[in-house]
Amino acid sequence: MTLIEKTLESELLGIVKELYPGFDMSGKLFVQKTGDAKFGDYQTNFAMVSAKALGRNPVEMAKEIAAKYIRSGTVERAEVAGPGFVNLFLSDKFLGEYVKSANTRAYDFTFIPRRGDVLVDYSSPNIAKRMHIGHLRSTVIGDAIKRIYKFLGYKVIGDNHLGDWGTQFGKLIVGYRKWLNRADYEKSPIGELERIYVEFERRTEAEPELAEEARQELKKLQDGDTENTRLWKEFVDMSLTEYGKIYRRMNVSFDTFHGESFYHGRMPGIVKTLLDKGIAQISEDAVVVFFEEAEHLPPCIIRKQDGAFLYATSDLACIQYRREHYEINRIIYVTDDRQIDHFRQVFRISERMGLNEPKVHVPFGFMKFADGMFSTRKGNVILLDDLLDEAVKRARAVIEEKNPGLPEDEKDLVAEKVGIGAVKYADLSKNRVSVVIFDWDKMLSFDGNTAPYLMYTYARIRSMIRKAEDAGKNLRDDASILFEDALERALAVRVTQFPVAVMKAAEAYSPNLIADYLFDLCQSYNSFYNALPVLKEKDELLYSRLLLSEQVSRVIKTGLDLLGVETVERM
Ligand code: ARG
Repeated sequence: MTLIEKTLESELLGIVKELYPGFDMSGKLFVQKTGDAKFGDYQTNFAMVSAKALGRNPVEMAKEIAAKYIRSGTVERAEVAGPGFVNLFLSDKFLGEYVKSANTRAYDFTFIPRRGDVLVDYSSPNIAKRMHIGHLRSTVIGDAIKRIYKFLGYKVIGDNHLGDWGTQFGKLIVGYRKWLNRADYEKSPIGELERIYVEFERRTEAEPELAEEARQELKKLQDGDTENTRLWKEFVDMSLTEYGKIYRRMNVSFDTFHGESFYHGRMPGIVKTLLDKGIAQISEDAVVVFFEEAEHLPPCIIRKQDGAFLYATSDLACIQYRREHYEINRIIYVTDDRQIDHFRQVFRISERMGLNEPKVHVPFGFMKFADGMFSTRKGNVILLDDLLDEAVKRARAVIEEKNPGLPEDEKDLVAEKVGIGAVKYADLSKNRVSVVIFDWDKMLSFDGNTAPYLMYTYARIRSMIRKAEDAGKNLRDDASILFEDALERALAVRVTQFPVAVMKAAEAYSPNLIADYLFDLCQSYNSFYNALPVLKEKDELLYSRLLLSEQVSRVIKTGLDLLGVETVERM
């Protein structure tokens, strides 16, 4: 299905060819939605951006263009506004048919250059540690970006770049042998591994020989010692099992779990290349890359004095691996904004190495808890499972209050979806780089820009459609969408805006643009719903409004799905 913008742009192309033969209009043919219905449904600034090159007055040009648009049947009225905008009012017939056949999964995005693989690197917790808030945000935002790019027809690979290598493993191996509590470990592996890690740190002050022991165990691990490798593998597996539960619960999945250890074999080669090419140098026995002053970047250590490789080294090896194994369209890294410099360093160094595939760091800000809950834990480590349980528990209470008649098991199911949806949506609906304040009451409210509000709007449409069916009024394929009232028309126009909202969200790596769109759509729907009867109307209007509602519900469902939020048929 062709996007309205594209239909209007191809009409504009015909008009421009006719009016200004030979004119090079590349990059200038552009139609976009308007912000306000009084300026039409869509508009173009073609006259303004081309007048100079044509030596013409933009308003005069706009008049010529407007006069030609009306012939098409797509546009009913075209008006010139301001310094040379052409405001386009879609014809009711075209709009009604477009919305009727809008199949949210079948938009034609072939005009986007989508060649190659989009790699999304997200979530990426550190083994033997609980995920912290940053990982929660990375998981939710990365998953949404993945879904959005897939929707646009890109080939997308979701990679979990686990922190599964590094000095902590020497300490864990020592701690495991000395202080592990088996029963606790079986109950909560990561909890117990964290405990022995803390125990290690606590004891080394008084027993400095522990540090030396850990170094030796780490060395053995790096040299491939069987027993230590087995233990390391066990820590990884145990952690992945726990993360897996959270991922399943959050409906998040990955294509690959290539952690830092996966690239270990490549790291010596990276160091050699950097030294050979003169990109890195030896400084106090370490291998370091220095940057030009103008780049405002701290030096990046590639290999420490003791021979250990660092985080940046594994990221360079990882880029090299991806370049060899994929046809990269771009690599998208989703982490909190404390890693901005890290990625600038890595991108800069990789370019100097000739690894110049497009890479984007998508940073996000911090998440804070309004009521102090969960924020008291040291280092802002939260138990994600506890967070989700709390969300579901609170959602259960809200459902109980709103719809006490729902069967008990359905209440549980709805509460799980609303609770988890609310947590995700609270994150995704905010500007990614701002600090997100996590406020239970706000995010679980049925009013405002929240998951429950959108999910409820969806469920309400579904229940209306069921009610119509019960009355023998099934949706009809041969019904037309009519515009008796301005509210219906405004709603229909919003339905047409969905695909471009998704494109914008992809371009800016900002899922909140989809959330904004959906919120606006739902508000528009609720104005329609509150003002205009549906089931009480005579058939023609009843089927029209039913169909319009159905199409709105599809957009809500698809849009929420792009944010990883599931819908329910009633709540
Ligand atoms: N494990 C890292 C952390 O927890 C995030 C990894 C992000 N991905 C990457 N390729 N560096 O901070």
